[in-house]
Amino acid sequence: MAPILDGRALAARIREKIKTRVAVLPSKPGLAVILVGNDPASHLYVSLKQQACEEAGISFELNLYPSDTSQKDLIAKIEELNRRDDINGILVQLPLPSQNADQIIASIDPLKDVDGFHPENLKRLREGKPAIASAVALGVMKLIDEANARGTACIVSSPLFAAPLQILLQERGVDSTVVQAENPELVHHVREADILIVAEGIPGLITGTMVKPGATVIDVGTTRTDEGLKGDIDFESVEKIAGAITPVPGGVGPMTVAMLLVNILKAYDLQRKA
Ligand code: GUN
Repeated sequence: MAPILDGRALAARIREKIKTRVAVLPSKPGLAVILVGNDPASHLYVSLKQQACEEAGISFELNLYPSDTSQKDLIAKIEELNRRDDINGILVQLPLPSQNADQIIASIDPLKDVDGFHPENLKRLREGKPAIASAVALGVMKLIDEANARGTACIVSSPLFAAPLQILLQERGVDSTVVQAENPELVHHVREADILIVAEGIPGLITGTMVKPGATVIDVGTTRTDEGLKGDIDFESVEKIAGAITPVPGGVGPMTVAMLLVNILKAYDLQRKA
């Protein structure tokens, strides 16, 4: 059986380090979250982020909006948060009920974009300039480092999700291919990969026979089913083949929260230098 990459334990160690660093800062860093609508999963994820911030000594401000809030009102709020010195990070919880996420994220000051979703941050990352990288991608990279994984990677996801990961992998000398679930060549690309990262939101998409023996398998998918949270990897069959594997829950999810805290500190530093 493949060793399980324990995202919860790794995240706890990172959160402890952040807490120690926050304690010696001249002022308290602050995160503002915008949460639109009543999706129970989004409310749960935001409460986990709130708890993580508060434990680390980072102030947390929740801005709740009804589902039908106009894009204009959300952007006006973001512009106000962009101007506030006590707010170092701004995060819009996704998915949004109906508003255009791209336009709303584009209104965040890139120096405060702690999710790392702003196109300017992706551009800067690509150019090798100081940037806030996607918290999810950073979490995936920490898990890959933890597994000491080498070789070539396959990312099964949208090109948008894959973009920052491809850059971070390349920085470690890892070449990657991106395929989407509907690609007829999916199985071929998956089978070649020493490092497999899957983020499609299709429970059980990847099964044991598709995976290269010994591969490091990172599951970003999290879907609520009648049987609880399910990843994109069929854990039972893949753990017999993989060299290391992340569970769902307890893998990438907690790492994303930990790397959000890392990004808030990075944003705080970048703003003091600006
Ligand atoms: N919804 C699911 N994952 C994420 C994330 O990493 N950031 C935000 N803002 N929303 C999400």
